[in-house]
Amino acid sequence: MGKARRAAERRKDAFYRMAKEQGYRSRAAFKLLQINSKFNVIKKGYAVVDLGAAPGGWLQVAKEISGGVVIGVDLQPIAKIEGVETLRYDITSEDAFEKVKEVLRKFSCEHVDVVLSDASPNISGIWSYDHFRSYELCEAALKIATKLLRSGGNFVTKIFQGEAYRDFYEEVRRNFAFTKAYSPQASRKHSAEIYIIGKGFKLK
Ligand SMILES: C[S@@+](CC[C@H](N)C(=O)[O-])C[C@H]1O[C@@H](n2cnc3c(N)ncnc32)[C@H](O)[C@@H]1O
Repeated sequence: MGKARRAAERRKDAFYRMAKEQGYRSRAAFKLLQINSKFNVIKKGYAVVDLGAAPGGWLQVAKEISGGVVIGVDLQPIAKIEGVETLRYDITSEDAFEKVKEVLRKFSCEHVDVVLSDASPNISGIWSYDHFRSYELCEAALKIATKLLRSGGNFVTKIFQGEAYRDFYEEVRRNFAFTKAYSPQASRKHSAEIYIIGKGFKLK
């Protein structure tokens, strides 16, 4: 699809328009709003870490709901959001969780209540390749979540569906008391993406 056509499609998209009208940086903000109204993963006062957070729609929603400590991590810079800390870092790096911990220390926070990941690879259009790159990001997000979450904490991650999906779902299931896959209405109709929600982290 050409650039002009993609831009035209975006203009037509209702969630894109609503995001503009309501001051959200991305249409993705509505995915988190829909996930949260169904699963209640973020509550008032919760400390939230958002992985793959640029341009910051989920960070805006997380801050609005929790009002607490909110940290966003991305390869890309994230323009300032009042009361939100950001970190430019690769979430697949071995020491990514240590970097987030350094930021958490500023707030005397040892653990967080929620880890979110909406991280996406650059889409190649080759379904299985994109799926495996998305799976790698999910593995990185789950690893960070298991290092940072308090007992009983919550996790949300996007994954592009494909052959490793089942294994990953099972891995989340082993770590959380409740696990569910969910496709919010704000996801594009023919998208391969789905969100896995894990609630009640089993801290070992
Ligand atoms: C769909 S966007 C996230 C949108 C965001 N949830 C929002 O509401 O604005 C996916 C993001 O994942 C980030 N990303 C991809 N790979 C990453 C990695 N290895 N480390 C950190 N961020 C990554 C991309 O830079 C991109 O900004």
